[in-house]
Amino acid sequence: MAGKGFTVKKEWDNPIEHPMPAEARVPAEMRVGPVVVTPATVLAPMAGVTDTVFRRFIRHASLFSAEGGESLSPVSEARPGAPSSLESGIETDVTNAQSGCGLLMTEFTSADGLARMRESKRRRYLTFYDDEHPIGAQLFGSNAETLAEAARIVEDTGFDTVDLNLGCPAKRVVGCNGGSGLLRDLPKIGEIFRTVRKAVTIPFTVKFRMGWNEKQIVCVELARMAESEGLNAVALHARTREQGYSGQAQWQWIAAIKQAVTIPVIGNGDIRTPEDAAAMVAETGCDAVMIGRAAPANPWIFRQIAQYTATGTYERPTVEDRYRMIRAYFQMLLDEQEAARDLPRSDRMGETAGKMKQFATWFTHGVPGGAKLRAAIYHARTGAEVLGQVEQFFATRRAEGFTEIAGHDSEDQGSGFPEDALVCD
Ligand SMILES: Cc1cc2nc3c(=O)[nH]c(=O)nc-3n(C[C@H](O)[C@H](O)[C@H](O)COP(=O)(O)O)c2cc1C
Repeated sequence: MAGKGFTVKKEWDNPIEHPMPAEARVPAEMRVGPVVVTPATVLAPMAGVTDTVFRRFIRHASLFSAEGGESLSPVSEARPGAPSSLESGIETDVTNAQSGCGLLMTEFTSADGLARMRESKRRRYLTFYDDEHPIGAQLFGSNAETLAEAARIVEDTGFDTVDLNLGCPAKRVVGCNGGSGLLRDLPKIGEIFRTVRKAVTIPFTVKFRMGWNEKQIVCVELARMAESEGLNAVALHARTREQGYSGQAQWQWIAAIKQAVTIPVIGNGDIRTPEDAAAMVAETGCDAVMIGRAAPANPWIFRQIAQYTATGTYERPTVEDRYRMIRAYFQMLLDEQEAARDLPRSDRMGETAGKMKQFATWFTHGVPGGAKLRAAIYHARTGAEVLGQVEQFFATRRAEGFTEIAGHDSEDQGSGFPEDALVCD
């Protein structure tokens, strides 16, 4: 569901380099109703990205370290017998504290579609595994009853929380009054809050932008409404709909919401590093941080934040770590493809080779020579071909003696997100 007029650039506009604040740390815990989110970090919902394979990949990201390497290895060392990659299957006992990610979120799902879908397809859309708890499912739509019906389905499926999307800027969603389109109709939002709240007992949360544009900022009023209607937490992507992904997230609005409500406030927008996460907490007092684009570019970020919180420093992945990471993720995608082989085409998840290409693009940012790999896999047609290119690329890097990631490659300036990437929120 690409939103014409909005492109997502992986390279943030004029990113601010935040020094680590002296005192602030990402909180160890946030409670969303009875759901304990520990540490207080959330993987942002990202259409086309945060499917079950990616979510589990993030949950297990702390295990991908080079054998014998020093970087990012304490977690696997602490768990004797833990595999260094997921090729041999998923470990189900990784705790949130180990992964560093306290709450996973699904991609947004159409409430209309969910309510209409046949059972088998629905299950495919809402697939998650035991090791993904706690996990929230995000819905979008504009009809209160339909959203309530979809929320009931989410609850029955076993999700820990249900989230309403009031941020997606995509024309196709806004055109049906969904996503950020609703930001222009607060009474309608109130009706949705009440109807969905009555329909489910699991925690109900909402993720929104500041407003439609700078002249119509409604986020503080919206957060107050959420609180008074019994929602359990709010998340703000601190941009307006008209801003798309341009400029900088205006964190002062996260602070304003935090001042206005007592339910947990999740801050979102432009966190690229552990320093950024701590700075957002310091500047806004938010109860948790939510991370989107940085996760596919640097899947270790949650673990790095946890390390930073604990020790004031964090380890950076080596090229070898990155290789193991991409290899393991691709294997997971191929396994998922194999598992879905007998399903009707319409019930399968996104096309595997396409996903692999997309992720290779993200993962290889900052790897010297990454642009060459992206050029090489551009023409690959199957998952196996993409994997072959990746193997060959890293073998060459290894032979050349590259072990550390040394910032950005000068030739590596391309956007990590394809121009027609999904741009909903
Ligand atoms: C490819 C992509 C897809 C997204 N899809 C969703 C979505 O389905 N639901 C949603 O609430 N936000 C979505 N977002 C927005 C993110 O959740 C997040 O709010 C935004 O990227 C800002 O956070 P960041 O600066 O950490 O990336 C999407 C973002 C991207 C880059």
